[in-house]
Amino acid sequence: MIESVLKEKRVFYPNPELSKEARIKSMDEYEKLVEWAKNDFEGFWDHFAKEKIDWIKPYKKVLDDSKAPHYKWFVDGKLNITQHCIDRHLPQKKDKVAILFEDEMGNVEEITYGELYERVNQFANLLKAYGVKKGDRVVLYMSMIPELAIAMLACARIGAIHSVVFAGFSANALRDRIEDANAKLVITCDGGYRKGKVHNIKSVVDEALKEPLDSVEKVLIYDRGIQKFELIDNRDVVINSELKEMEKECEPVILDSEDIAFILYTSGSTGKPKGVQHAVGGYLLWAILTMEWVFDIKDDDMFWCTADIGWITGHTYIVYGPLAVGTTSIMYEGVPVYPDAGRWWKMVEKYKVTKFYTAPTAIRILKKVAPDEPKKYDLSSLRILGTVGEPIDPESWLWYYENVGNKKCSIVDTWWQTETGGHMISPLPGATPMKPGSATKPLPGIFAEVFLEDGSKAGVNEGGFLCITKPWPSMIRDVWGNPQRYKKTYFSFKGNIYLTGDDARVDEDGYIWIMGRADDVINVSGHRLGTMEIESAINKHPNVAESAVVGKHHEIKGEGIFAFIVPREWPENLEEFKNSINEVVTNEIGPIAKPDWIVLTEALPKTRSGKIMRRILRAIAAGEEIKQDISTLENPEIVEKLKEAKPI
Ligand code: WTA
Repeated sequence: MIESVLKEKRVFYPNPELSKEARIKSMDEYEKLVEWAKNDFEGFWDHFAKEKIDWIKPYKKVLDDSKAPHYKWFVDGKLNITQHCIDRHLPQKKDKVAILFEDEMGNVEEITYGELYERVNQFANLLKAYGVKKGDRVVLYMSMIPELAIAMLACARIGAIHSVVFAGFSANALRDRIEDANAKLVITCDGGYRKGKVHNIKSVVDEALKEPLDSVEKVLIYDRGIQKFELIDNRDVVINSELKEMEKECEPVILDSEDIAFILYTSGSTGKPKGVQHAVGGYLLWAILTMEWVFDIKDDDMFWCTADIGWITGHTYIVYGPLAVGTTSIMYEGVPVYPDAGRWWKMVEKYKVTKFYTAPTAIRILKKVAPDEPKKYDLSSLRILGTVGEPIDPESWLWYYENVGNKKCSIVDTWWQTETGGHMISPLPGATPMKPGSATKPLPGIFAEVFLEDGSKAGVNEGGFLCITKPWPSMIRDVWGNPQRYKKTYFSFKGNIYLTGDDARVDEDGYIWIMGRADDVINVSGHRLGTMEIESAINKHPNVAESAVVGKHHEIKGEGIFAFIVPREWPENLEEFKNSINEVVTNEIGPIAKPDWIVLTEALPKTRSGKIMRRILRAIAAGEEIKQDISTLENPEIVEKLKEAKPI
């Protein structure tokens, strides 16, 4: 992939029609904004914070960096996110559809802004009835149904902190997150649709809480009526009828700009997943600005982000961003290939989607399974196509551009992270000439640079660590319960600049090309997984002495999981062994963490001080030549053996 990206030289210009109507119409206009932010950093942010947010009480200071790298934005400003996402649209958009939901079975639900107001308030009143107060943590483990978005907004209404856990995570992974967040409530639903089948959700919560956790007072269940479940005495409550009886008015709690908006767990290179904390004011501002700049949202748009709300993309670009700018947000529960690979294109046609946002993995699957399928549908409503989560290879970019966008749409390849809250590096659809495979340039107000290991600035096309050199409003505020980890992970490379964990290079035109993770994180189908997390799971298998996991290029997933395993006793039946490893990993983390390749070995290559040589393992997995000197290893002979080994 990197090879083909290095050779990529093509440039595609935005469709003039699109530029004409766009908020930022040219690179000149872009440069002006960039210069403004450079010359008057606080003035720039002050302008947009005043223009975009209805502060209940104005802030006193734009940025407080006295405790850097713990930054405070819009100090002492007061607001509530749900007023922006709902209340302020009511005078003009009461009957406009806010959330358009469709599930795999074809069931459709349209929720107007007026209805959303009532349902969020009812849910918020229900939370209050169960004793939830400002600052309490509520874990949401649900399928992609409107009640998930409603529950999030209900938390935001009363200042409770939600932590959504992706419903593909296992009971153990869920338990870890509930425990770390010390959650008072868990909200779930009976089941969800996926690939034409119903999968259990509530029973995973039961498994996670088999040994009760002290903090959890109640489990609230929204029953869709698609999956039977058990009720645990004194803990479980089915909320459907109670919800309907709740008052439809609920005063929003006035929050401080720096109050915690939510926690979302994400994987790092060491230890357990960390709870990324976002702050109310800054997060909201950047959600609004990126919706306006990157998706250029107008009143007649139909916006569809296909992510799962369990990840940051769904938080910012299904729930908070689209609703804050008053557009219609489409929410789909299911996979892109059910009942066939035309499902998404059919929905684009049916709902006249104008802005469509998905992941390279999905594009690769659809391109592979049914490359001509988009031609069967009328996709002429589309204006902007987005990608997120992993680098997109130029071939897939071109297929997306030609077959889905009919060469008329801009492609916004948006680079960002759970920690950044919203887009950081991305083309502007009406302005930026696009190069397939490059996320292009930082958005106005964002300062990105690439540094070498010694802290010096990388030269043109020289790969290095991608860093953000100035704070930004929607940046991570802390790691929940672990401020040391916040500093160590993100701010220990070079002064108070933010280390992203990605490798990148900047080309002769100042375009940024993301080269992949610089740390021990693997990006599988756009899902972040720590190698240590997967290793700890594998090591729980009774017949595993030791293991090491690395990423390897995968045709569909972008990156796949390659596991080197040292068994205690050599297994007789390899297939059985592999299945049992998959089972352990699925139990510990979830099916997304199952290894794609397993190599059994009698030892792992180690230095004399006992450190596993991951770089060597990465080269072996990739079938590349080993550039390191292996003579200093404790066991150099193992390298040759590993090169010969066939994965199971
Ligand atoms: C990767 C997802 C290349 C990157 C929003 C980052 C990308 C990690 C892109 C964050 C992109 C995200 N091009 N790589 N356009 N977008 N990444 O926290 O490695 O789930 O660090 O946030 O995904 O993943 P996360």
